[in-house]
Amino acid sequence: MTLVAFNICNAQTSINQDRMITPLPTSIPYDKEKAMLGKQLYMDTSLSKDGKVSCNTCHDLKRYGVDNEIFSIGADGVLDEPFNSPTTFNSVFNFVQFWDGKAKNLADQAKNPFINPKEMALKDEAEVVKKVEANAKYKASFDKIYGEITMQNITDAIAEFEKTLITPNAPFDRYLNGDENAISSQAKRGWEAFKSNGCVACHQGQNIGGTMYQKIGIFEPYPNQENLGRYEITKIESDKMVFKVPSLRNVAKTAPYYHDGSIPTLDACVQFMAYYQLGRFLDQQTVDDIVAFLESLTGEFNEQF
Ligand code: HEC
Ligand code: HEC
Repeated sequence: MTLVAFNICNAQTSINQDRMITPLPTSIPYDKEKAMLGKQLYMDTSLSKDGKVSCNTCHDLKRYGVDNEIFSIGADGVLDEPFNSPTTFNSVFNFVQFWDGKAKNLADQAKNPFINPKEMALKDEAEVVKKVEANAKYKASFDKIYGEITMQNITDAIAEFEKTLITPNAPFDRYLNGDENAISSQAKRGWEAFKSNGCVACHQGQNIGGTMYQKIGIFEPYPNQENLGRYEITKIESDKMVFKVPSLRNVAKTAPYYHDGSIPTLDACVQFMAYYQLGRFLDQQTVDDIVAFLESLTGEFNEQF
């Protein structure tokens, strides 16, 4: 009797866990006119202090929305510490923006880089608006779509463009949609290990992350305590070293890893996750399996225009 009950319980847990990750939609609604304008702004280096840096410098559309550097280089060659550049791909699905969640949505986020002295380094929002106004092509588009050029309208257009940066049809999504052959048997073992070891408790939902905050270093303190994450914003003791759980979509393409870019390979990243977050050591076979699973999360990016 006990055994049967145990089995039923186990089966239910695994069914529930199976549903904790869902495929990405193949598209989401967006306003094309605004998004096309947003793309021009996203690619435009003239909207930076030295005329050399755009959003695309650090969030390269040809590199899954990152630059693969530990820290990016902003205007005038300034090192953009202390955070590794996260991807802009699928960021629309994250419940908040930035590692520490300091922006509530994409439009709110997009105000920051223009005037961040380590990124595009313009003086203030007025200078951003002035630079956009100086470009006749922008003036015509803004007049037509929004009626005027304001910081709010600039960031609205960028956020609209970012809705097109989604990567559906990953092999794992095709597997979830019923194509048994979409991923290897090693990746299937990795998915099982991802669930049974508790990774899915934090990395879950359609973005396989981006749904909650968690502390880094639950079982072992994280060595780099230079930036304290959520605590820097809330000053609540229990928020020390708490960060947004990042999405694992396209994670095989977005090295290096963690908020400080300190981990160069996915293999080491998985091993450290088990150590810091779960207090366990995974054998190399399990790590390899989980890495194969993570590699099956690389989706398709179709540039819309
Ligand atoms: C010099 C490099 C650099 C430039 C230029 C830059 N960013 Fe970023 N971006 C970063 C870094 C670093 C972070 C993480 C900072 C943090 O979490 O506090 C970030 C975070 C983000 C995020 C949050 C993603 C997430 O999942 O939390 C988005 C979205 C984003 N940037 C979009 C943009 C847009 C839009 C522009 C242009 C207006 C831009 N970035 C310009 C480096 C850059
Ligand atoms: C208790 C919550 C939690 C658990 C459990 C957990 N993670 Fe994480 N994971 C996080 C957080 C938080 C971060 C971001 C840490 C940072 O950047 O400092 C992260 C980061 C990562 C990254 C790096 C992503 C990037 O873009 O930098 C990978 C890969 C990862 N986790 C995989 C796993 C795997 C595999 C497991 C299971 C062995 C796991 N995680 C278990 C919370 C968790």
